[in-house]
Amino acid sequence: MHGQAESPAARSTYSRVAIWLHWSIGLLVILNIAIVLVRENFEALSRTMMGWHKAIGILVLALSLVRIVWRLTHRPPPLPPMAAWEKGLSHLVHFLFYLFIIAIPLSGWLWMSAAETHRPISFFGLFIVPMLPVEQSKALAESFGEAHEIMGLATIGLIILHVAGALKHHFVDGTNLLERMIPGLRNR
Ligand code: HEM
Ligand code: HEM
Repeated sequence: MHGQAESPAARSTYSRVAIWLHWSIGLLVILNIAIVLVRENFEALSRTMMGWHKAIGILVLALSLVRIVWRLTHRPPPLPPMAAWEKGLSHLVHFLFYLFIIAIPLSGWLWMSAAETHRPISFFGLFIVPMLPVEQSKALAESFGEAHEIMGLATIGLIILHVAGALKHHFVDGTNLLERMIPGLRNR
């Protein structure tokens, strides 16, 4: 997903918008995974937490559409020097992230829309998210649910790889990679 050409004008950090979208989506995705993983320990709050999970997911979907448009119209800074396999792996992980931040919330939304009981999805109490026009069927709902869970759990593995890669390139290879994505570290 990275532009390869290194023109003299290429920037050395991500744009403010790209950074803002990276961290807002990234933290919301981590929060959403944490919510489903811990909610069973909070019996009384479990239903409310599931409501947050759905609303946060819809917010991630909206932010991700903006992010993808931004990404397609703004070239990221070129990668620092690294082995070809590391470049390949980082492109693959980034590509899967872009795919999943759309496909995971969308599959959750489709899952709820295909379910035989339409439980309303409230967007933080502000409005009710409409159901998507899909057939209501148990089998279809189950398929969307399965896709949702597989991609959601796979994301945990991707996050571990992604963070490990970022820390390795920053601290072990000394390429200051984190500065590109952490505003406080910029221009130092
Ligand atoms: C604490 C966790 C995280 C850290 C430390 C982190 C760090 C970074 C850094 C340093 C980059 C820039 C890499 C480069 O310069 O090429 C980056 C890019 C990226 N990160 Fe993260 N990240 C985190 C969490 C996440 C999460 C949860 C997601 C997905 C939901 C995510 C998605 C992405 C994507 C898609 C890119 C590529 C941006 C592009 O070039 O288009 N990150 N991240
Ligand atoms: C950022 C977006 C989202 C992420 C990363 C995410 C991730 C996950 C994960 C990891 C699970 C647990 C899978 C398992 O334990 O097997 C899950 C379950 C679930 N998700 Fe999502 N999800 C997102 C958005 C949504 C949306 C938008 C909806 C519905 C509108 C939704 C509805 C559900 C439901 C109903 C469950 C089942 C919970 C249970 O175990 O009872 N999710 N999600």
